[in-house]
Amino acid sequence: MFTFAPQPTQTKAERYRDLTAAARALTQDEPDGIANMANLAALIWTYLPDLNWAGFYRMLPGTGSAPDELVLGPFIGKPACIRIPLTQGVCGAAARTRSTQCVADVHAFAGHIACDADSRSELVVPIVRDGIVIAVIDLDSPLPGRFDPEDAAGIEALVREISLRV
Ligand code: SME
Repeated sequence: MFTFAPQPTQTKAERYRDLTAAARALTQDEPDGIANMANLAALIWTYLPDLNWAGFYRMLPGTGSAPDELVLGPFIGKPACIRIPLTQGVCGAAARTRSTQCVADVHAFAGHIACDADSRSELVVPIVRDGIVIAVIDLDSPLPGRFDPEDAAGIEALVREISLRV
């Protein structure tokens, strides 16, 4: 049995530190990326408050005529759109630009894809391995402005920890 649990009095920095340590402990001996992404989605959900969706989209490399696209991976939340072209959505923007997207108001983001009508803000961090985007972590919140630079830095630290094991 795993007993990962955030402490209620923690600062945000402490919480991300513990999340990353828990992610290391949970994935370090497991080579299966899907299993690790499933557990990481559950860990993120456990440690971070005010989320309505947390999970992964994996990069599917294009073939000749078909461009690269993202495909739904392990997640917690309502059923979500399955495929996202890199030209669309907050996830597509993160994968295309290889940069974190921290969106305070999803309704103000041109091309935002509304999988859950309750979502108001979103944080998407690309997972880059050997210079190639292999997936993104996507977090949605029903609260406007839920994510700040500290959240972005926290998830980026998590990504550095797990990028070789997803
Ligand atoms: N909102 C995302 C789509 C994925 S869902 O939020 C789970 C986007 O605009 O890319």
